[in-house]
Amino acid sequence: MSDEKDEMIVTPFEVRGILDYDRLIEEFGTQRINKKLKERIYKIAGDRHFLLERDLFFSHRDLDWVLNEYEKKNPFIIYTGRGPSGHTHIGHLVPWMFTKWFQDRMKTRLYFQMTNDEKYFFNAHLSLEDVKRYTYENTLDLLALGFNPEDTYIIQDIEHIGLLYEIAVEVARKVTFSTVKATFGFDNSTNIGSIWHPAIQAVPAFLHSWIYGRNTPCIIPCAIDQDPFWRVTRDVAEKLGYYKPASIQCMFVPGLKEGGKMSASDPMSAVFTTDTPKAAKKKVMAAFTGGRTTVEEQRRLGANPDICSVFKYYNFLFMPDNKDLADIEHKCRSGEILCGECKQILAPMMMEFLEKHQAAREEVKDRVEDFSASRLRDDIRK
Ligand code: TYM
Repeated sequence: MSDEKDEMIVTPFEVRGILDYDRLIEEFGTQRINKKLKERIYKIAGDRHFLLERDLFFSHRDLDWVLNEYEKKNPFIIYTGRGPSGHTHIGHLVPWMFTKWFQDRMKTRLYFQMTNDEKYFFNAHLSLEDVKRYTYENTLDLLALGFNPEDTYIIQDIEHIGLLYEIAVEVARKVTFSTVKATFGFDNSTNIGSIWHPAIQAVPAFLHSWIYGRNTPCIIPCAIDQDPFWRVTRDVAEKLGYYKPASIQCMFVPGLKEGGKMSASDPMSAVFTTDTPKAAKKKVMAAFTGGRTTVEEQRRLGANPDICSVFKYYNFLFMPDNKDLADIEHKCRSGEILCGECKQILAPMMMEFLEKHQAAREEVKDRVEDFSASRLRDDIRK
């Protein structure tokens, strides 16, 4: 009998339970990224990426179509985003790092949406000041990854609503309350800002086409929780004369505690980019692993990396080299390494990453405006 706490819930607002990604593909109606498609990406990109190699980016919509268009010299734009409800955790960086690689390899433009309005509507405890502050803080995290202002446009919903509004009203007229109720589980007690939000999150998928008056394919890299938004967006796209946006979707980097979730309300469950390296080390040392109850048992039977959060951090972020990953996995399964020792390997990696990332955050502080989508106003159908 399945336990209620194990029940899988994956929505843009909540992720919990034991995640079955095959079931998600089936329920959401997306496609698995197969070997052939990966090879096609690598051929066009001229490079491979470990997140694809390891099937951590595992699902898509219309990625093959976008590549067909690209090869026919109809290049795409990339669209992704963040709901600034708190500090960025390490998991958020995964789709952004992949986005950076994809953008660099495909030499294309990125629209990045900061849905500060969404987070205000959905979180009664956040003030407008809070979501604006987190917009800035999260922007530093994005820029610290090395994006280039020439090709990167950050849209802050509240500030740039004038840029978004015309497309948003076109979208909103085509989406019924019954659709968003069924898609997002809204009910009569949901505030009308939340009900309206799917129209706003659809806009950047069409923005480039609208600004330049040329229908342009769009691909959205993100974790699979955002898929309901793309279902609504894709439903209206052709009615408005735009291409349906494609997407490429990753799995979730789990939390550090048993049960998988990273939660802002439980600081020990996630490493935030603003944590001090010392605090992050403490979290790593307290992380949930797949270890046995005694040292003797672990030496004899080995541990289980499949359920271990430390191993997942190697897999998603810290060991891009397959040889390193295979080596640690072997040591874990064979009982050669104990969980405490394994954490002692991750902790300095995490600390070094945070030191570098935090230094990069400082460096980009005076360049935030260079990325602003307000630059687009001059381009609107010149
Ligand atoms: P948000 O802020 O919840 O998440 C930002 C991005 O991070 C992904 N994500 C994760 N990826 C890996 N492991 C995790 N544990 C994890 N948790 C979250 C999310 O899928 C997302 O890609 N409504 C959106 C903001 C948004 C957006 C977009 C996101 C607006 N337009 C376009 C993606 C693409 C939100 O609140 O994301």
